[in-house]
Amino acid sequence: MLQDKATAFIIEMHQALNINENKTKSRIQEIKKEISQTGTYTHTTEELEYGAKVAWRNSNRCIGRFFWDKLIVRDLRHIDSESSFINAIEDHIETATNGGKIKPMISIFSNHFEIMNEQLIRYAGYNHIGDPKSKKFTQLAQHLGWQGQGTEFDILPLAYRIKNQTFKYHTYKTVIIKEVQITHDQYPDLEKLNLKWYAVPIISNMDLEIGGLYYHTAPFNGWYMETEIGVRNFTDEYRYNKLRDIATAFHLDTTQTSSYWRDRALVEFNYAVYHSFKQSGVSIVDHYTASKQFMKFEENESKLNRKVTGKWSWLAPPLSPSLVHNYHKGYDNEMRSPNFLYKKKQNVCPFH
Ligand code: ARG
Repeated sequence: MLQDKATAFIIEMHQALNINENKTKSRIQEIKKEISQTGTYTHTTEELEYGAKVAWRNSNRCIGRFFWDKLIVRDLRHIDSESSFINAIEDHIETATNGGKIKPMISIFSNHFEIMNEQLIRYAGYNHIGDPKSKKFTQLAQHLGWQGQGTEFDILPLAYRIKNQTFKYHTYKTVIIKEVQITHDQYPDLEKLNLKWYAVPIISNMDLEIGGLYYHTAPFNGWYMETEIGVRNFTDEYRYNKLRDIATAFHLDTTQTSSYWRDRALVEFNYAVYHSFKQSGVSIVDHYTASKQFMKFEENESKLNRKVTGKWSWLAPPLSPSLVHNYHKGYDNEMRSPNFLYKKKQNVCPFH
């Protein structure tokens, strides 16, 4: 089982990288031996790097895959102390943020460490304020002794556990967290809503699967597409639910839907998110550019005789979807390996 997955991965990698067949055979033998002796095997750093990149390439929901081979892979399996783990997490945030010129990056730790956060950086959710998406996690952090300020945008701490030990939290150094105020050049009232978002989405609740091995602690990031913040995070009724306030800041008639206030507000607000990030020197992509890059990715892959798999409902942007090519074609949602997988149990608060 594991042997088969390992073999398939090694063959695919060696073919892709033009590694000679003798090396392939001897590597497969080596892995076989290690599995028979220990029940598992160890990737080389090259295998880890290739595997992580291809896992991104195979991520059906991701429109940003044009950049898959630009991923910076940090092999951190050697880290064994708590303090170096925390340093490495903060270092990931700082290095990936890169003063705003975001670098796509993954840090792969040993399964000795476990991260409870959905993303390394997220805003707390309380009963009537903050990001409702983080309510459960906020309770977990509070159980661990963390206390927020109770604002709309409290940065949550890192919650983690070392194998067989208790859960702990760590509050990040504030200087490493970059955030962007959302403003609109033609509607100064928008600024008065005091909306902001953090610069880098660093997913930390997915398992990285390579050749049958699972890395449970492998936070990774790219940069934002504007609609993630503009259409979803601030607009979904079960998230910040700000569309009416935003429309009011844009002086729209919100008394009847036939004024199209929702649609008008959404377009202007996404423009505001995009330009606010740009003005702050923080990388972000608009959905037109992202879609064009995705088309280029599809072309590159087809030249290499590889089929692009994808999940249509995620690849079509939630703003003006029919204006980009993704909307007008189908995608096969077959799941390839290596890949990123959602963990089965998410953010379960051990205290409830
Ligand atoms: N949609 C998520 C959010 O708004 C982030 C998911 C990853 N996005 C990305 N551009 N890499 O926080």
